Amino acid sequence: MASVTLKNITKNYTKDITVIKNVSLEIKDGEFIVFVGPSGCGKSTMLRMIAGLEDITGGELYIGDALANDVHASKRGIAMVFQSYALYPHMTVAENMGFALKLAGVPKTEIDQRVRKAAEILQTTHLLERKPKALSGGQRQRVAIGRAIVRNPKVFLFDEPLSNLDAALRLNMRVELSKLHQDLKTTMIYVTHDQVEAMTLADRIVVFNAGIIQQVGSPLEMYENPSNLFVAGFLGSPTMNLLEAQLVGLEQGVAVVRLPKGITLKASVEASRGKVGDKVTLGIRPEHLRLAVGDEAGAVPARVDLIEHLGDHILAYIEIPGINEILSVKVAGNVTNLKYGDAIRVVFPEKNCLLFDAEGLAFKRVA
Ligand SMILES: Nc1ncnc2c1ncn2[C@@H]1O[C@H](COP(=O)(O)OP(=O)(O)OP(=O)(O)O)[C@@H](O)[C@H]1O
Ligand SMILES: [Mg+2]
Repeated sequence: MASVTLKNITKNYTKDITVIKNVSLEIKDGEFIVFVGPSGCGKSTMLRMIAGLEDITGGELYIGDALANDVHASKRGIAMVFQSYALYPHMTVAENMGFALKLAGVPKTEIDQRVRKAAEILQTTHLLERKPKALSGGQRQRVAIGRAIVRNPKVFLFDEPLSNLDAALRLNMRVELSKLHQDLKTTMIYVTHDQVEAMTLADRIVVFNAGIIQQVGSPLEMYENPSNLFVAGFLGSPTMNLLEAQLVGLEQGVAVVRLPKGITLKASVEASRGKVGDKVTLGIRPEHLRLAVGDEAGAVPARVDLIEHLGDHILAYIEIPGINEILSVKVAGNVTNLKYGDAIRVVFPEKNCLLFDAEGLAFKRVA
C-alpha cells in the first residue's frame, strides 16, 4: 500500500497542447479517490501517467516516498483495470489472472495460490478453467479485477471499469468494489462518469475540468458546498438550478438577490466581498425547491412544463414567467395531482440557496 503524490504535474501530447495543467494532489495511503469531469478533461491521461503508460511532461509523481517519474510501469507496484477488459481470448481465466506473475517469474505454485485467493474474493472460482468468450460481461470484468488483485499492487487504478455493464450488474459490482476496498485497504484511484459511483465509492472526489482540478473534497462536502459554478453544475443529477440574478442587499449572513420581474430571494451566505449591483448566480438543487403550502409568503408563481414520474419521486420542470431558465423540482412520488400546465407556487428556502459571484466563485455558506 502506498500514498500517491502529484506535484505540479503537466502533460503535453504536442508542443502547444497542454492537457494536464499544473495538477497537485496528495492521495493518502489506503484512500479511495474518484476522478470525475467532462469527456476530454484529462482523467485517463492522469491515470496513465500514474501507471507509467504515458510520460509525464513536467512535475513530480511520488508513489510512497519514492519519485516515480522515471520508474518503469512494471516496477511501480500499480495495477490498472480498464473499461475494455483486455483479456487474452486464448487463455483460460486462471491463465489470464496469473499471466503478469508468470512474466515476472513467480513460481507456479505461488501463482496458483494467488489466483485461487483472488478468485475466492471475487467468487469466480467456478470460472477458472473457462475461456473469456464463455463469460458474461460482468464475469469478464471480475476477471480483469482479479488479474489486478493477484499482483498485490500498492495502488489500484480503475478507468471506468463498470461502464459496459447493465444497470443491475453495475450496482452489484459497485458494492463489490466497495467491499474489496474495505478488505484490502489498498489505495484506489477510480475514474467514472457515474454520479452515484462517485458519491458512494469515494473518500474524496476530485473534479477536473480542462486539465485543471476544480475542487477536491468528500462527496457530501462537494455536493453541499461546491466551491464554484462548474462543480455546482457538474455534481448532482438532475443538475443544480442556476439562475442569473443581481445582488441587491447585504445583511449579516444573508444576501438578497433580485431575479428579473422584480422577484427577490434570499440566500444564507456571507457575501460581504460582493457589493450591491453585482451580477451573481443563485443556485438551488431540485430537491430543495418545494411546492408552496397555501398562500405561503415569499413563494414564487410558476407553471408546470413537464412531469416525469420516476416511481419514488416526481421531477417537475417548471417555468417562472420572465425567467429564461427551466427549473427542475423534485417532488415526493405520492403527489400525483401535479400535471402539465398547472399554475403553482414554489419556495426557495433561504438556507438551501447558494450564491456565486460574477467569476463563478461561491460565497461562503452560513451554517
Ligand atoms: N495519445 C494522445 N495524443 C494526443 N492527444 C491525446 C492523446 N490521448 C488523449 N489526448 C487528448 O488529451 C485530452 C484528455 O484526454 P483523456 O483521454 O485524458 O480524457 P478523459 O478525461 O479520460 O475523457 P473521457 O471521459 O472521454 O474518457 C483530450 O483532449 C484528448 O483528445
Ligand atoms: Mg478517459
